[in-house]
Amino acid sequence: MRPFTRFPLFRKTLLGLTVAAAAMSTTQAGEVEVLHWWTSGGEAQAVGVLKDLVEAEGHSWEDFAVAGGAGDSAMTVLKSRAMSGNPPSAAQINGPEIQEWGELGLLGNLDEVAEQGDWDALLPDVVADMMRYEGNYVAVPVNVHRVNWLWANPQVLEDAGVALPTSWDELFDAGEQLREAGYVPLAHGGQPWQDATVFESLVLSYGGSDFYRQVFVDLDIEAIESDTMIEVLETFKRLRELMDEGMPGRDWNLTTSMVINGDAAMQLMGDWAKGEFSAAGMEAGVDYLCSPVPGTETDFIFNIDSFAMFRVTEPENQEAQQTLARLVLEPEFQAAFNKVKGSIPARPDLDMGEFDSCAQQSLEDFEQARDGDTLVPSMAHRMAMNSDVQGAFFDIITNYFNAASMTAEQAAERLARAASAAG
Ligand code: GAL
Repeated sequence: MRPFTRFPLFRKTLLGLTVAAAAMSTTQAGEVEVLHWWTSGGEAQAVGVLKDLVEAEGHSWEDFAVAGGAGDSAMTVLKSRAMSGNPPSAAQINGPEIQEWGELGLLGNLDEVAEQGDWDALLPDVVADMMRYEGNYVAVPVNVHRVNWLWANPQVLEDAGVALPTSWDELFDAGEQLREAGYVPLAHGGQPWQDATVFESLVLSYGGSDFYRQVFVDLDIEAIESDTMIEVLETFKRLRELMDEGMPGRDWNLTTSMVINGDAAMQLMGDWAKGEFSAAGMEAGVDYLCSPVPGTETDFIFNIDSFAMFRVTEPENQEAQQTLARLVLEPEFQAAFNKVKGSIPARPDLDMGEFDSCAQQSLEDFEQARDGDTLVPSMAHRMAMNSDVQGAFFDIITNYFNAASMTAEQAAERLARAASAAG
């Protein structure tokens, strides 16, 4: 858009210098439209860090936030924008869906920025592999979230006279005491992705990392129909005893608020919950506690947020896009963003001294899990399987969780059917 073409001819000479200067600066300054689902208090603060950095480079940031935890709504909106031939220039897309978009031929290429920033050497293989399509970088990783966390309010635990549970039996026992003391033992938001988030931690806890991979990565029918899975499903439904009646449809951050406010004792949720505790001015290890989900201490369910770039044609917008990609992996952004977001940096070479104790534990556990091969991709957060199977699993898990009449065996059978339909 050239606003100056609207000026009458006689003013052109007079404005010559201004026009030239404006044109020079606009060849540099582009726009990047960024689709994401970071709308909770902690998340909005975190994405603000990136917006400020992009704007400081002279580009403009068109915010395209679509509310809804885990990005289910954001992905629906993205599909409709892409189908109408008008995708945003950058979109938060995680895991194998990056490949799905790559196959459609819609993604741009970040190889030049990647080479300049030496991403190959910088990023752990598990992270870098997800960012490439047919060998080319098409996305940039923002962070590494851990899903298998248990969060707790220590004052509530103390008031009820219980310790932070380290096994499922302890959790159910503590639950009774917490109820008697007038608290909701386990805060939960009844949305399919939140149900799936709790469910996958149970699969890991009961079966270990090999079993987890058999179920969610290999879609192994025998594992899905095993006795271990039946046990997982039964415990999963039993957790309802610890939850409250207000859970249907509740957003995850409102659920975290119940723990923050002291109405509930605990929540099973990924470490984006930490962003809410921090935004409320609470200190890790003092005002709130984090602990790996019982039985998963040496394991790590990872969830990597990333921005994939769509092809854009205007050179200045391409430049804005490349700038965004470069900034995301720079130490300044990685440190500032991840401290607010609750995750650990996507690049492992940063000084973690300024991070809180939960983040430090997360990085230590990530490295230990990577070396011990107990690092597993999140099913609930789009890391483990393609979106069709994931959608089918979500439906079955949620239906089972909410239908008193569906047995664990029936749910396992349905999961197995969905897995075999995927081939
Ligand atoms: C996850 C995402 C996190 C966080 C969470 C809740 O899928 O990776 O960054 O936003 O959803 O929306």
